[in-house]
Amino acid sequence: MPNKKPLRRPGKQQSADISEAQIAVHWREEGYFSPSSKFIAQANLADKGIFKRFSLDKFPEYYREFADLLDWYKRWKKTLDTSNPPFWRWFVGGEINACYNCVDRHLARHKNKTAIHFVPEPEHEAVQHITYQELFVRVNEFAALLRDFCGLKAGDRVTLHMPMVAELPIAMLACARLGIIHSQVFSGFSGKACADRIVDSESRVLITMDAYYRAGTLLDHKEKAEIAVTEAAREGHKVDRVLIWQRYPGKYSSPTKLAEGRDVIVNDLLRKYRGKRVEPARMPAEAPLFLMYTSGTTGRPKGCQHSIGGYLAYVTWTSKYIQDIHPEDVYWCMADIGWITGHSYIVYGPLALAASSVVYEGVPTQPDAGRPWRIAEQLDVNIFHTSPTAIRALRRAGPDEPAKYHYHFKHMTTVGEPIEPEVWKWYHKMVGKSEAVIVDTWWQTENGGFLCSTVPGIHKMKPGSAGPGIPGIHPVIYDDQDKELPAGSGKAGNICIRNPWPGGFQTIWKDPDRFVRQYYSRYCKNPRSKNWRDWPYMAGDGAVQAADGYYRILGRIDDVINVAGHRLGTKEIESAALIIPEVAEAAVVPVADPIKGRVPDLYVSLKPGFTASKEIADRISGAVVSEIGPIARPRAVVIVPDMPKTRSGKIMRRVLAAISDHKDPGDVSTLANPEVVDKIKELVK
Ligand code: WTA
Repeated sequence: MPNKKPLRRPGKQQSADISEAQIAVHWREEGYFSPSSKFIAQANLADKGIFKRFSLDKFPEYYREFADLLDWYKRWKKTLDTSNPPFWRWFVGGEINACYNCVDRHLARHKNKTAIHFVPEPEHEAVQHITYQELFVRVNEFAALLRDFCGLKAGDRVTLHMPMVAELPIAMLACARLGIIHSQVFSGFSGKACADRIVDSESRVLITMDAYYRAGTLLDHKEKAEIAVTEAAREGHKVDRVLIWQRYPGKYSSPTKLAEGRDVIVNDLLRKYRGKRVEPARMPAEAPLFLMYTSGTTGRPKGCQHSIGGYLAYVTWTSKYIQDIHPEDVYWCMADIGWITGHSYIVYGPLALAASSVVYEGVPTQPDAGRPWRIAEQLDVNIFHTSPTAIRALRRAGPDEPAKYHYHFKHMTTVGEPIEPEVWKWYHKMVGKSEAVIVDTWWQTENGGFLCSTVPGIHKMKPGSAGPGIPGIHPVIYDDQDKELPAGSGKAGNICIRNPWPGGFQTIWKDPDRFVRQYYSRYCKNPRSKNWRDWPYMAGDGAVQAADGYYRILGRIDDVINVAGHRLGTKEIESAALIIPEVAEAAVVPVADPIKGRVPDLYVSLKPGFTASKEIADRISGAVVSEIGPIARPRAVVIVPDMPKTRSGKIMRRVLAAISDHKDPGDVSTLANPEVVDKIKELVK
């Protein structure tokens, strides 16, 4: 069933219902900030005529401008095929290769230019500057290994569980060169989480690294591959090969043993492929480029399938015009390539534009809060991209640090969560030195690239608001009665996009029904219609639109918690808790956190005959970490005598959320067991 939870109206104080949405809706309207004339003079896009060119009556042909940024083997015949809604097909008949567009086509003019600056976390280790020529060589050699040693071919899936190192984009591009569908799993995810994604995508090959640096420690990463392969086998799926890159080439840095016949050290094997070149595969535009798993309303993560042609066109256009990337720019997106932001805006978008893209291995505050600014100074980074969580952490750890370093950003991006206006202002004044423009970009794993943002050379900025739909994107807010909420109504509703766009995911891997159900069925005007106008895309976020047309995103309307900008399903965390045999019921609620935005609190009740203990609570917390990863670790595990429940037996999560946030849970007299509320309050105190 699509989620029909009513959205609260702004302005009304509702203690127990306080959600991310409510916090944001109470922010007052902020004044505007203007881009500098210096920025506008050099901007890739400053022509206001763009919005006329991208008006809905010119849909879908306006998207030809996106695809024209790429090199095609064969031009497409049809810009958009809508014959099987909502499975849109973009640039039908076109043939293209993503790796060719990100690497080969730049060699003639940019072969000596740095494609990737790899910055190791230990500050004494030298930065590696990988030129486009070197990237070309390394991608080709690794592609030859994938093809000739592993026997992989176009359409096969390969799981990557790689940390933030240059070998990750190299591996992705090598897959893309052969038409292999890559599925990169965030390196912070556990071996078990990796196994689930291996099984779902039916990958026979896992690509990983022996070790990497995180917060000052060289972590054993190979250990997770061992768990992943074992767990996958338990689920009936065999991984034939584990390819292991060495963090320090020539030296194996993990205490975990290699399995003979299965595990291969990439750096050794690559010697056999020295000098090998692989022709890029001529792929249909609509063939899948990669899968990116994300959390949704059910326990199982879903594999969002992105296309080659449409996706690459979308991220290239948005990188050029929303992030204002020019080939001479040094661009640093501090996200992890294990998330969609890194795929689109560390790897594919910037490299398609022949920019220099920074890949930083570790945490921003290692060894101190000046680190990002030293990196920016050293590499002369002029475009910077990060999340509100990172901005809050850097602000707390070193509010005056940026001023100590001689770097200058012309442009900065924020993504992943709502940013509080006062944090935005610190970002603008201190990090951006009051010179940089800021774009607050709203979008999702499913979308491939930005949906709402100001156009930096055209629009004014407004702290706390993402901005209007980007050129070509036509959002609409519906209320629960399916009525459109006009700009300036002051009411929150479900934000949807009226039109398809090339970056949108094609389907959920092996689950097309869920794709239709979750994103389209709620506001579909006629399920038999072949007209795209009847199929608005429902994002799953609450939003309000101000009179100036800017959207303020209020947060998820479903069972997703946004922890430090990372998407976690409450169901995923709850199922992990239920692995512990003593646990009867589990409920996760988001709690406000000054740095991470939201963190999960986990409430559990035990089966009869068991008594609460720290030992049980620790085991539950441990289960969450081993099932998902440390990012999902609950702030607290509260073992309660009983869950607050409605008469029909539904757990009242909003009551638990209010207790966690030390807010008034409101009227609880309608609960089946109101007396439990005070007992839980006592436990949380
Ligand atoms: C949230 C990340 C407010 C939103 C690219 C969305 C945001 C979810 C913003 C997707 C923003 C993303 N302002 N909220 N600028 N950007 N979100 O799939 O709730 O990891 O649905 O994609 O993050 O997270 P995901």
